[in-house]
Amino acid sequence: AVPRDLEGVRVLVTAGGTREPVDPVRFLGNRSSGKQGYALARLAAQRGARVVLVSGYTAGLDEPAAVDTVHVKTALDMREAVEKHAADADAIVMAAAVADFRPTVTAVSKIKKGDGEPDAIPLAKNPDILAGIVESRSAGTLDADTVIVGFAAETGDENGDVLTYARAKLARKGCDLLVVNAVGEGKAFEVDDNDGWLLGADGSECALEHGSKSLMASRVLDAVAQRVVRSRDE
Ligand code: C5P
Repeated sequence: AVPRDLEGVRVLVTAGGTREPVDPVRFLGNRSSGKQGYALARLAAQRGARVVLVSGYTAGLDEPAAVDTVHVKTALDMREAVEKHAADADAIVMAAAVADFRPTVTAVSKIKKGDGEPDAIPLAKNPDILAGIVESRSAGTLDADTVIVGFAAETGDENGDVLTYARAKLARKGCDLLVVNAVGEGKAFEVDDNDGWLLGADGSECALEHGSKSLMASRVLDAVAQRVVRSRDE
C-alpha cells in the first residue's frame, strides 16, 4: 500500500519541456517526456499531498488524477506559474527541462525558404527558475523551511565524472536535494526507467537503483517527507 506520509503537505512540481518559439510553426525544444515529473506529481497526490503540477510539453501524458495541473509553453510562462504557486508550497520539486535560451525575437509569420539562406537565430538567456526560487527563499519571500529539489542530467567527460559535476551543481544551485541522472544514448530522456543519485545539501549521498520512474519518484518523495516541516500546516 502507498503510505499517506505526505497528508496535507503542499507540493509544487514542474515537469516536461519548454518550447521557445522561432516563428508560428517552429520552436527550440528538448527531449523531455515529462514522465519523471508526472510520476512525482501522481505519487505525491497518492501519498496525501496537495499537488500543483506546472507542466511544459510532454510525450502526450494524461494529467495525473487529483492533481491541479497548469500547462505552460515557454520558460518565461513556467517562471510566472512557478512564482505564482511557490509561496503556497511546502516542497518544490523542479523536474522540468527548461530551455536555457530563447530566440530574442519570434517571427510573426512563418520564415520561408525563399527568404534566402537561413540566418543564425539570435538567442537570449532564459532565467534559471530554480535559482530564482532559491533566491526568494534566501530573501525571505518564501518560507525558510520550503524544501527545494532540483534535477541534474549530467554526462561525465575527461574533466570529471557525473558525481563530481553533480556535487558542484548542488552547491551552486543551493537547493536541498539534487536528483542526478546520467544521461546519454538511451538514458534518462524519453525512456521509462532511470537510475542515479540523490544528493543532499546535508552531505548525504544515496544511489538510486535502476528502476521505473515511479520507483525513483518514491525514493525522492521519501527524502522530501523526511525534510518537510509540517507544523505550518497544522
Ligand atoms: O543547470 P541545469 O539546467 O542542469 O539545472 C537543472 C535544474 O534546474 C532542474 O531542476 C531544472 O528544472 C532547473 N532549471 C530551471 N530553470 C532553467 C534551467 C534549469 O528551473 N532555466
